[in-house]
Amino acid sequence: MPALDARELIVGVTGSIAAYKAVYLVRELTRAGARITVCLTANARHFVGPLTFRTLTGRPVLEDLFDPASDAAVEHVALAERADAMVVAPATANLLAKAAHGIADDALTTLLLAARCPVLLAPAMDGGMWHHPAVAANVALLRQRGVTVLEPESGALASGLTGTGRLPEVDVIVEALAGLVAPARDLAGDHVLVTAGPTREAIDPVRYITNRSSGKMGYRIAEAARRRGADVTLVSGPTTIAPPSGLRFVAVESAEEMRTAVLAHLDQATVVIKAAAVADYRAKEVATAKIKGKRELTLELTPNPDILAEVAARKTGAFIVGFAAETHDVARHAREKLEAKGVDLLVANDISQPGIGFDAEDNEVLFVDRWGGAQVLPRTSKAAVADAILTQVLRLRAAARRGVRP
Ligand code: CTP
Repeated sequence: MPALDARELIVGVTGSIAAYKAVYLVRELTRAGARITVCLTANARHFVGPLTFRTLTGRPVLEDLFDPASDAAVEHVALAERADAMVVAPATANLLAKAAHGIADDALTTLLLAARCPVLLAPAMDGGMWHHPAVAANVALLRQRGVTVLEPESGALASGLTGTGRLPEVDVIVEALAGLVAPARDLAGDHVLVTAGPTREAIDPVRYITNRSSGKMGYRIAEAARRRGADVTLVSGPTTIAPPSGLRFVAVESAEEMRTAVLAHLDQATVVIKAAAVADYRAKEVATAKIKGKRELTLELTPNPDILAEVAARKTGAFIVGFAAETHDVARHAREKLEAKGVDLLVANDISQPGIGFDAEDNEVLFVDRWGGAQVLPRTSKAAVADAILTQVLRLRAAARRGVRP
C-alpha cells in the first residue's frame, strides 16, 4: 500500500473491549509498510498488553510519560511532531471528551495535543453513549477543528444490546488513514473504469439468479484509484455498500446493463479493472408475471455476453485487468483465462480457502501478466490488495511503454 509505505504513525489504544481489534489494525498497518509507535492508556492495558504491540511493531510501547526507562516517553513531543498521522482506535467517550477539551493527563492525550499531523479517531462505545448529547457535542467540536472522527458501526455491542457504537472495521480505518496521509498521486491523468459486485438476472418480477460477490474488492479498488489521483468510474451491480464519494457511480443490475454501462465509458478509460462477478447465465425468457405453483420447473438459461473479453477485443489502448475466481489449479486456470480473454493482467483468487475472496474482508491473490510474470500476494486486507493491483498496473504499463520486459 504505497500511501502508507514508510509512513510514521502513532496508534493510540484506549480502554474499550474493542481494544483487541487494535492488534489487527496494527498488524495491517505494519503489513502496509508503516512504522508504528503504539501508545496505550492505563485502561487499555486491562484489555490488551504492551508485549503484543511491541512484538508486532518492533518498537517500545509508550505507556507512561514519566517512565525514565522509556526513550519514547522522553522524546514524546518529537515523536508527535514527526508523525505523518495519528489514529486512536478504539477511542472511548472519555478520550473524545479529553481530546475535545485539550486535557492532557496521560501519554496519549499529551501526544494528541503535541501532534501536528492529521488525527483520526475511531470511536467504540455503547450505543446509548454515542448518542449522548455530550458525546455528540465533543465529536462536533473535534470535527470543526479538522479532526477526522469516524462513525461507529451498528450491530451487536459488548453490553448485549444492539446499537451504534461498534469500532469501524479495520479495513475502513486503514482506508481513512491512507486518505489522510498525503497519498502518492501516481494515477493522476488516468481514467480508471472499475466494475464491482454481482449481477442480478431476473427470472420473473420477484426472483433472480445471482452470486455471493459482496462488491468489496471492486469498491476498494475504485477508492484507492481515486485516492491516487485517477478520475474513476465505478459500475456496480447490487451491493449493500454505500457509493463512495468523489467518483462517477453507475448502478446496474443485470450483465446486459453492466455491458452497456462499461461500453459507454470505455472510450475515456486508460485502465479497466473488471472485479465484478458477472453471472455467466441469464434466464432465456423472463416471465412477465410471477411464476406460480409447486410443480417441477425447468429453467432454460442462455449465456451472458463476456464483457471482459469484449472490452479486451476492442483494443482501445486501455490497460485491461481481469479477475478469476477459482476453486482448484489456480495458476493454470489463471494463465488460461488471461490468454482466452486477451487481458494484460489477471488477478486470481482461490475461493475454496476460508476467509478470503467472496464476501470476505481479506484476500490472497496471484497476479499473472501477459508478459509471462506470476506473483503471489499473501493474505492481506482488500484495501491493501487494491493498492497492490494498481501498483502492478503502473509497473507493467511503464515497462511495456519502454519496450522492456517487466
Ligand atoms: N466476466 C465478464 N463477463 C462475463 C463473465 C466474466 O466480464 N460474462 C469477467 C469478470 O468480471 C472477471 C473475469 O471475467 O474479471 C473472470 O470471471 P470468471 O467468472 O472467473 O470466469 P468465467 O469467464 O466466468 O469462466 P469460468 O466460469 O469458466 O471460470
